[in-house]
Amino acid sequence: MGLPQDTATPPAHRKTQPTTMTTTTSTSRRRSHRVMCLSILLSMLVVIAAEMPAKLQQNPCESKINCHECIQTQSCAWCMKDDYGDRPRCFQHSSPQICPEEFVWNPDTSETILINKNLTLAKSAEAWAAGQFVSGGSYQRSYHQQSSASSSSSAAYGAQYGGAAAASAAAAAGEIVQIKPQRVNLKLRINQIHNLHVSYSQAEDYPVDLYYLMDLSKSMEDDKEKLSALGDKLSETMKRITSNFRLGFGSFVDKVLMPYVSTIPKKLEHPCDNCKAPYGYRNHMPLSNNTDIFSNEVKEAAVSGNLDAPEGGFDAIMQAIACRQQVGWREQARRLLVFSTDAGFHYAGDGKLGGVIAPNDGECHLNSQGMYTHSIIQDYPSISQINQKVKQNAINIIFAVTQSQHSIYQKLSSHIEGSSSAILSNDSSNVVDLVLQEYRKISSSVEMKDNATDEVKITYFSSCLTGGAEIKTSKCGGLKVGDKVSFTAQIQVTKCPLNPRDWKQVIQIYPVGINESMVIDLEMLCSCPCEHPGSTGYEEHSTKCSNHGTYMCGICECDDQHFGNTCECSNSDGHLSKDKPSSCRADNTTLHDCNGLGTCLCGKCLCNKRDNPEEIISGKFCECENFSCERNKNDLCSNHGDCVCGRCICHSGWEGSSCNCLSSKDTCYPPNGGPICSDHGVCECGVCKCNSTDEGRYSGRYCEKCPTCSGRCHELKDCVQCQMYHTGVLKNENDCATNCTTFTPVGVEKVKIDEELDEQLCVFFDEDDCKFTFKYAEVGGILKVHAQEQTECPPKIFMLGIVLGVIAAIVLVGLAILMLWKLLTTIHDRREFARFEKERMNAKWDTGENPIYKQATSTFKNPMYAGK
Ligand SMILES: *[C@@H]1O[C@H](CO)[C@@H](O)[C@H](O)[C@H]1NC(C)=O
Ligand SMILES: *[C@@H]1O[C@H](CO)[C@@H](O)[C@H](O)[C@H]1NC(C)=O
Ligand SMILES: *[C@@H]1O[C@H](CO)[C@@H](O)[C@H](O)[C@H]1NC(C)=O
Ligand SMILES: *[C@@H]1O[C@H](CO)[C@@H](O)[C@H](O)[C@H]1NC(C)=O
Ligand SMILES: *[C@@H]1O[C@H](CO)[C@@H](O)[C@H](O)[C@H]1NC(C)=O
Ligand SMILES: *[C@@H]1O[C@H](CO)[C@@H](O)[C@H](O)[C@H]1NC(C)=O
Ligand SMILES: *[C@@H]1O[C@H](CO)[C@@H](O)[C@H](O)[C@H]1NC(C)=O
Ligand SMILES: *[C@@H]1O[C@H](CO)[C@@H](O)[C@H](O)[C@H]1NC(C)=O
Ligand SMILES: *[C@@H]1O[C@H](CO)[C@@H](O)[C@H](O)[C@H]1NC(C)=O
Repeated sequence: MGLPQDTATPPAHRKTQPTTMTTTTSTSRRRSHRVMCLSILLSMLVVIAAEMPAKLQQNPCESKINCHECIQTQSCAWCMKDDYGDRPRCFQHSSPQICPEEFVWNPDTSETILINKNLTLAKSAEAWAAGQFVSGGSYQRSYHQQSSASSSSSAAYGAQYGGAAAASAAAAAGEIVQIKPQRVNLKLRINQIHNLHVSYSQAEDYPVDLYYLMDLSKSMEDDKEKLSALGDKLSETMKRITSNFRLGFGSFVDKVLMPYVSTIPKKLEHPCDNCKAPYGYRNHMPLSNNTDIFSNEVKEAAVSGNLDAPEGGFDAIMQAIACRQQVGWREQARRLLVFSTDAGFHYAGDGKLGGVIAPNDGECHLNSQGMYTHSIIQDYPSISQINQKVKQNAINIIFAVTQSQHSIYQKLSSHIEGSSSAILSNDSSNVVDLVLQEYRKISSSVEMKDNATDEVKITYFSSCLTGGAEIKTSKCGGLKVGDKVSFTAQIQVTKCPLNPRDWKQVIQIYPVGINESMVIDLEMLCSCPCEHPGSTGYEEHSTKCSNHGTYMCGICECDDQHFGNTCECSNSDGHLSKDKPSSCRADNTTLHDCNGLGTCLCGKCLCNKRDNPEEIISGKFCECENFSCERNKNDLCSNHGDCVCGRCICHSGWEGSSCNCLSSKDTCYPPNGGPICSDHGVCECGVCKCNSTDEGRYSGRYCEKCPTCSGRCHELKDCVQCQMYHTGVLKNENDCATNCTTFTPVGVEKVKIDEELDEQLCVFFDEDDCKFTFKYAEVGGILKVHAQEQTECPPKIFMLGIVLGVIAAIVLVGLAILMLWKLLTTIHDRREFARFEKERMNAKWDTGENPIYKQATSTFKNPMYAGK
């Protein structure tokens, strides 16, 4: 188990040696201070601990088995004393301890400010100008060297601009400081939050470099003329802001390839009327304080033409940024790159259309004329490449584009740090206002950024200019020159990187768009010095470790073949133990060592560790665990008990297999008194479990209700009857007196039920069919009965009269029907007889003739025959 070894920390090693520790004054002072704090803390803790239940004192340290794991846990310290017994060496430093102070390793977060120059608040323009004079020549020289390699005409170019070119390094005399402190050394423990204070102030008369990068395709011709006319005004306006202003000019068209520009030979020379040959990018005028020549340079730059709509602006941006020397960016200046166009842009991948596949390398490729030489060799850069370059060089790009392109450049600017976009009128007439406005916007706000890796979390807080409480923000706006803003950078290392080399990092915190930063030399306290060879007590193949391991920090780090506290076990032992009657099995009925929940090591069970440190397997044979007890709503033992060996041991006041029940039965007694669960159920878990009988089910919180039961009506009936009405089975006075002793009914005129009092209504009929009604209720266990004073008897009925009446009615109805029938038949008969009589009278047949006889001859007469 090779420990990560960091040989680059010898000073830290020495700290572990007790002797050196005491001699280091700063350490010992800190330590004595700590001892004082500790004693105060201890006394407080004793008081608190007395009141606190023992289970609250859970300790995350104790499970850490080596020094580096220990100190990577917050508030834990390691004891490296040699003979320390079986006590956990990793302990909470705030708790009482046995380990002598000189053996405790508990590194503290520490911050040392290495460079802390004062912010430049006063005007320093003169000093700066002087510094520039001194170093002005160096640029000239280097520019010459570079250019002579590529072209012979370099001399003329260099001579023209060299005098006005940039200073290479900030001269010591006039250094401007806008962020403080500049360098900090930080030692941080894992998960410990450290607050670092950073101040920012914008220096007065801070130098400004403005490079105007212009699209010179045909459509921009009028813009060019306008810019040329406005050149002087632009520099004048900017010079009012800073006396230290420099202006430069570059232009671009597109790659000279199909389909970006026409490659017909004639078109290559003159793509349009009054046009010059197309080109990728050209640096016409490096940044210079000689702003008078700007207008002229712009005027002289030739317009060219291309074919497709998007232009090769990205190539130009990349070159303008990458060619720091040729363009002449100063190291200490606000750098503005104004990008003006009326068209879209090509980006990485578009080069394939013209057969260019080599990716952009982000390097400078300018010849002595300031022409981009790799235009047709390399693809366009990607947005992220540009963003990276912009970040490295702290450049603020201002996209000055026409209305139609604004939305796309606005989106683009959100992907490029410190950039912004603004609308340019179609003839560039508002360019001066635009630059001024954007400059103000840029310089009036500050945003803090950093290049920390994933393991380091930096959060910024600031109250900006309000002076109030700090809020979480990395950006402040509305700043004026000289305003000082303070940021608090909250730094936290969330985990140790796997690679020990990453334990030391250099992190930069910088204001966006300014080439100044606070550099943090961060050392993550991920390992203990005592774990490195050469420290006191470090011993390889130590006899303390049975010659099978390295002794360090008071413990053994065994080699691959051995284990155990003193590396006394060898891997092969474990296998051997399988054959002999295993001491890792509870009896001969189990087939698995350590119940299958651990490994048998050196005849002892080493129980498995669970991912969750709360879950512990224990016992001589790993037969116990404390995580599989009964659960109630996913809470182990309902959180009212301890899980011991698979069973819940309930805290007092709780019971049940999952400790989910209150032991007290108080909640089962009806509030009005009376027996537990009204005698109709049993109290389980603090809740009444009601009986259900043949009569019905009891319900209610105290089983006091039973809508379907007859209740005690029957039981009470006889007594009510005898006591109230002197009737019923106990009619006899003596019986009544002896058998009815529990209650005396109270007479009421009318029985009414009050639901709230749980009164029950009983209604019965006595022998005389008289209804009697009473109600009862149990109040506080005492039966209260109210009965109606008078029974309600039905009126007597004359039964014989009814019977006779019914018989008479039936006979009468029958007679009536008979008479009606007789009447109807008589009438019918009369009518039939009358008709017969009439027919008989009418019959006129010969008495001698058979009325059925018909003559055999028939006589026919023609009605038309008139004569005889
Ligand atoms: C920085 O400023 C403080 C007070 O503003 C002053 O006491 C100190 O001397 C200054 N330090 C330097 C290096 O100028
Ligand atoms: C530009 O700076 C140079 C020195 O770097 C100086 O000689 C010259 O006078 C300055 N020109 C203007 C116009 O300020
Ligand atoms: C930023 O300034 C430092 C010196 O302060 C210099 O070394 C570095 O090159 C500058 N970076 C850029 C991109 O100009
Ligand atoms: C600018 O555009 C407007 C309409 O959008 C047009 O009327 C005007 O002539 C254009 N100006 C120039 C100089 O092209
Ligand atoms: C942050 O930037 C500084 C300066 O550029 C560099 O030295 C350092 O390595 C960077 N840190 C990380 C973590 O990238
Ligand atoms: C287990 O051990 C008991 C005595 O301890 C013995 O009587 C029994 O036969 C053994 N069973 C097996 C399967 O070995
Ligand atoms: C199991 O036991 C360990 C050690 O005693 C304890 O830290 C942990 O909280 C217990 N887990 C549960 C679920 O009780
Ligand atoms: C009804 O509840 C009582 C407790 O009040 C209990 O003694 C009895 O056994 C129960 N009867 C039935 C049938 O469950
Ligand atoms: C009333 O009580 C007497 C004596 O206590 C008993 O003999 C008799 O059976 C009882 N009557 C009824 C109806 O319970």
